[in-house]
Amino acid sequence: MPDATTGPTIESVLQEQRLFAPPAELAASARIGSLDAYRALCSKADLDPDAFWGDLARRELHWFEPFDSVLDWSDPPFAKWFAGGTTNLSFNCLDRHLAGPRADKTALIWEGEPGDSLSFTYRQLHAEVCKASNALKALGIGKGDLVALYMPMVPEAAIAMLACARIGAPHSVVFGGFSADALRDRLIDGQVKAVITADGGFRKDKPVPLKPAVDEALAANGGAPSVEHVLVVQRIKGDCAMATGRDHWWHELVDGQSAECPAEPMASEDRLFVLYTSGSTGKPKGVVHTTAGYNLWAHLTFQWIFDIRDDDIHWCTADVGWITGHSYIVYGPLSNGATTVMYEGAPRPSKPGAFWEVIQKHRCTIFYTAPTAIRAFMKSGRAVPDQYDMSSLRILGTVGEPINPEAWMWYRDVIGHNRCPVVDTWWQTETGGVMISPLPGATPTKPGSCTLPLPGIAADIVDMDGVSQPADAGGYLAVRRPWPGMMRTVHGDPERFRRSYWEEIRPADASYLYFAGDGARRDADGYFWVMGRVDDVINVSGHRLGTMEIESALVSHPTVAEAAVVGRPDDLKGEGIVAFVTLEAGRCGDDALIADLRAHVGKEIGPIAKPDEIRFTDSLPKTRSGKIMRRILRALASGQEVTGDTSTLEDRSVLDALRV
Ligand code: WT7
Repeated sequence: MPDATTGPTIESVLQEQRLFAPPAELAASARIGSLDAYRALCSKADLDPDAFWGDLARRELHWFEPFDSVLDWSDPPFAKWFAGGTTNLSFNCLDRHLAGPRADKTALIWEGEPGDSLSFTYRQLHAEVCKASNALKALGIGKGDLVALYMPMVPEAAIAMLACARIGAPHSVVFGGFSADALRDRLIDGQVKAVITADGGFRKDKPVPLKPAVDEALAANGGAPSVEHVLVVQRIKGDCAMATGRDHWWHELVDGQSAECPAEPMASEDRLFVLYTSGSTGKPKGVVHTTAGYNLWAHLTFQWIFDIRDDDIHWCTADVGWITGHSYIVYGPLSNGATTVMYEGAPRPSKPGAFWEVIQKHRCTIFYTAPTAIRAFMKSGRAVPDQYDMSSLRILGTVGEPINPEAWMWYRDVIGHNRCPVVDTWWQTETGGVMISPLPGATPTKPGSCTLPLPGIAADIVDMDGVSQPADAGGYLAVRRPWPGMMRTVHGDPERFRRSYWEEIRPADASYLYFAGDGARRDADGYFWVMGRVDDVINVSGHRLGTMEIESALVSHPTVAEAAVVGRPDDLKGEGIVAFVTLEAGRCGDDALIADLRAHVGKEIGPIAKPDEIRFTDSLPKTRSGKIMRRILRALASGQEVTGDTSTLEDRSVLDALRV
């Protein structure tokens, strides 16, 4: 089995004996208030999954037309959920809350980096979303047309997502930190018809333009010919070139529209969104989620893992460009009628306590962030958070990468004052919502473990033949049964979907099993401990990057002959990126070239993909069949001894040369 390179090691977690019971007060009023109640739900789901999901779907979502069947798994791995039914995610997030007092409840609180802030009640958000929907329609965007969002963290990002869902135009949100080239690839792959963007956003106390990257994506290298319109939110109010006929200001086109736009009844399996994520090949995959199943999963998981109450103020620090932002800033909270906080900024030298200030100002009750952020806070010391009043908090969450027990304990102590349960939530872009997580009122927690699968989730630890592994044995994390929020396909490449997720591991009985790409173990209590990726994907500060993508970016530079990229453990970022590069004959690897190559990767993919270290070498360690031996490079990159079998190495002198 390829080794996982980050997170807790088997040795470190085997020593982890601490157990924290849910706070009694929270358990007493929780929706799921004990392990027995959790187990009862799991048994119900296992006994009759169709009845379990069907009842929940009928109870928790609004349906224009009821569904005829729950799961159609007749053509695995292509699942159909809730066939025959029609619903609308935007309706479930907005319209259904307008009938009663919730209409005037705050739906969205937005905090801008410079300190400006806005809030929207459900009624106001509904009106804004309707106006944006009508504006999209006025541009000729309708059901089935893919719309890309390339946005800073402004309220219009959430409004645009809900507007797309409302009119049945699937969205493809591209993280605003990706480069123009990366944006163009995604526009072309999705045959995107319109782009919604902003003139820029605020970062580290400065306005940073964004629109020029859209212009470049649409102009350079043949552009993206399918794009007809660009809708531009004015955020930084600097100079912004507008192409006549193609570009439209949001405030000119949207503000004057009618505030009524009926939600389009969508078939359960109509495409809701595409979100690109990295895999083990050079090309990112467009993960496809569909309407009803995704809605139900974002809705239920949000309700379960945060034990949501009507007076909660929920804040998830992710960017809407990632699945976490989709499911836990926008759709999960709004579908439940909760109040969600969106923050444009991040902690920065001028304001190290930025996050704690938001919590104090808005009296946040739930705080959901990434281990990499927690490790950074730990490093700068407790004096910063200690200056703020965080007594409003009642539940803390983490997501995106394994959390080391020390960071978990610090989070619980310094941010949660040992009052708030910590929910370590394991999931992926592909799973739509959380899969394995404590329930704050039910599950005793162990630092570093994401604990137990949610009801209905048949998670398992298996070997390459799909055989369940005994307690404490390492293996692959897999899911044995379909669940409503599962991805449905890879956009434009159903075979890749089948191959990457369902055929890597084929059990003897030929059943289909979802392979997540993570290595993990389960302890004697059934608790899951995720070690990290076992494929060629690295996780830098919770951002998922394919090593092959970075390699292709490097190789596209004229001086580079060959490149191999690996991850190495990093105290802050989880993993750092190390690139081994061989140059074209006659080229010399110096500091100037390193800077140039880093900038080149930044341009091809985005700043998050820039290697932390570039090592020039005359040749790369390969097997006789020409495969790069990454195991060796991983050991070298992290300064470890190269252990294990090196007999398949074609030229042993390569190893000696790399060691120096
Ligand atoms: C990969 C998925 C899910 C939203 C953010 C990332 C890693 C995620 C955890 C966790 C250990 C985790 C896995 C997974 N991961 N959450 N709680 N503990 N690892 O989504 O970009 O699709 O990445 O993130 O390796 O496969 P993503």
